[in-house]
Amino acid sequence: MIFGRVKPLDAILAAAEGKSLHRTLGAFQLTLFGIGSVIGTGIFVLTAAGAQKAGPGLMLAFAIAGAICIVAALCYAEIAAMIPVAGSAYTYTYSTMGELLAWTVGWALVLEYAVAASAVSVGWSGYFTGTILNQFLGIQLPVWLSAGPLALGGVAGGFINLPAVVIALLVTWLLIIGTSESAKVNAILVGIKVVALTAFIFLTYGKIDTAQFSPFLPAGVFGGFGTGVGAVGAAATIFFAYVGFDAVSTAAEETKNPQRNVPIGLIGSLLFCTVFYILVAAGAIGTIGGQPIMGPGGIPFPAGSEELARQCAMPQHAQALVCSNEALAHVLRTIGFGKIGNMLGIAAFVALPSVILVLLFGQTRIFFVMSRDGLLPNALSKVHPKWKTPHVVTAITGAAVAFAAAFLPVGALADIANAGTLYAFMMVAIAVLILRKKEGHRPRSFRTPAVWFVAPATIVGCIFLFFNLPSAAMLVLVIWGAIGLVVYYLYGYRTSHVGHGRVEVLTDDAIDGITH
Ligand code: ALA
Repeated sequence: MIFGRVKPLDAILAAAEGKSLHRTLGAFQLTLFGIGSVIGTGIFVLTAAGAQKAGPGLMLAFAIAGAICIVAALCYAEIAAMIPVAGSAYTYTYSTMGELLAWTVGWALVLEYAVAASAVSVGWSGYFTGTILNQFLGIQLPVWLSAGPLALGGVAGGFINLPAVVIALLVTWLLIIGTSESAKVNAILVGIKVVALTAFIFLTYGKIDTAQFSPFLPAGVFGGFGTGVGAVGAAATIFFAYVGFDAVSTAAEETKNPQRNVPIGLIGSLLFCTVFYILVAAGAIGTIGGQPIMGPGGIPFPAGSEELARQCAMPQHAQALVCSNEALAHVLRTIGFGKIGNMLGIAAFVALPSVILVLLFGQTRIFFVMSRDGLLPNALSKVHPKWKTPHVVTAITGAAVAFAAAFLPVGALADIANAGTLYAFMMVAIAVLILRKKEGHRPRSFRTPAVWFVAPATIVGCIFLFFNLPSAAMLVLVIWGAIGLVVYYLYGYRTSHVGHGRVEVLTDDAIDGITH
C-alpha cells in the first residue's frame, strides 16, 4: 500500500502543543537568518560552473531558480507553521502521504543535506588552497592532494581533496562535542558575506564592458535534455545557491505575527539574494568575461567533466572564469584588486564552514527522527553520555560527507544535492495541497497566499528544474531511491513503530531535551 501507515496528524499536533513556543523573531531577524542560511558555495564558487553552462545567461538562471524557490518557500512556510515538529519534509509527508513516501523523502533529504555539505566542503577547499595557502603562505598544495581524480571530474593528477576532507571532519567534530551556531555568530557571518559581496559588486561595476555580455545565451535557453547546459541547465545547478531557505520556514513557529513576518522574511531574504546574485554574476562576467569553453557541436563542455579539466589546463584558459575554483576572488585579482580579492577569499574561508555546520546538523536531525520512528536502527539515535549529542549518527554522516568531498567535484555534488532537494520540495507542495483539502478546518498560523496557484507552480517548477539537471545527477536520484526502497523493505518496513501501532512525535525542543 503506497499511502498506508500515515502518522496521525492529531498525535503530531498534540505533541507540538506541549512545546514551549517563544515567538521572538521579527521580519528583520528572519530575513537575516534566511540570508545567513543561504549565501555560500553557490555564489562564491558555482558561479564558475554556472557560467560554463550558460555564459552571461547565468543572470537569467539566477532569476529562474530564485522565482521557483520563492513559491516553494511559501509552501514550506504554511506546513512548517502548521506542523512544527522535527523532521521537516519527512514528517510532513509521513502525516499526509504515509510511511513509504515519507521514507523516500527522508532518503532524498540525505542528498539535500549530506551531499550539499560535501559540496560546500569542496567549495571551501578552493578558497583555502587558493587564498590562504597560495596567496598568503606561498604554499602550492600538490594537485594530488587538492582535487579528486580526473576520472571523477577532478583534474589531471588529482587524487584526493584533502582540505575538503579536513574541513568536513572538523565540522563533524564540532557537532559531536555539541557546538551550535549562535544568533550572534550568524549575524556576524551574514555581515561578512554581505560586505564581501557588496564590495565585489561595487568594484566590478566600474569596470564592466558590456561587450562581454554578448552573446548573452551562447548555449541557448534549453541546452537539451540531460546535458545540463543552457540558461535553464544553469538554473538547475545554481538552484544550490538558494538551498537552505527552508530554515526560515521552520522558524515560522518562533515568529511574532507569522502571517505577516514569515512571508516578509522568506520573500525578503530570497529576493535580496536573487538581486545580489544577479549583480554579482553581472560583475564577474561583465569584467573578465564568462563565455563557456565550447566542445564539439558548439555545446559547452560539461562543468566538472574530464574534457573541461583538460581544457582548463591549457595556457589560453588559465584566466578563464569558468576554470576558477575561487571564482569571485579570481575576478577581483584579475581586474587589479588583488588585496581585496584576497580579503574576499578570507570571507569565504571564514563563512563557509558555518554553512557546512548547518547542513550537517540538519542531516543528523532527520536521521535521528527516522531512527526514533524505527525506520533506521536505534543505535543511530544514541546520545553521547558527556557531550549529549547524537554522536553515532553525526560521526557516520560526517565520514560519508568527507568521503564524497574527497573525490567528487563541487558542481557534480551540487547537482546531486539539488536532485534530492527538488524532490523534497515537490513533496512539501503536494502535502500542503492535501492538507488544505483534508484538514482545511485546522488552524494555520501562516497560509500560503493563492495556494492553488503557488503549490502547483512549485511542483511544476521543481519537476522542470529536475529535468534540466545533467543526466548523471538525475540518475543518481533514481539509483539512490531504488537503494532506499530495498533498505526500506528489508528493514524499516518491519521495524517501523507506526507499523506496530506506536506513534512517537519529536519536536525540536524534545530533541534538544534528549541531546542537551
Ligand atoms: N545555499 C548554500 C550554498 O550556496 C547551500 O552554499
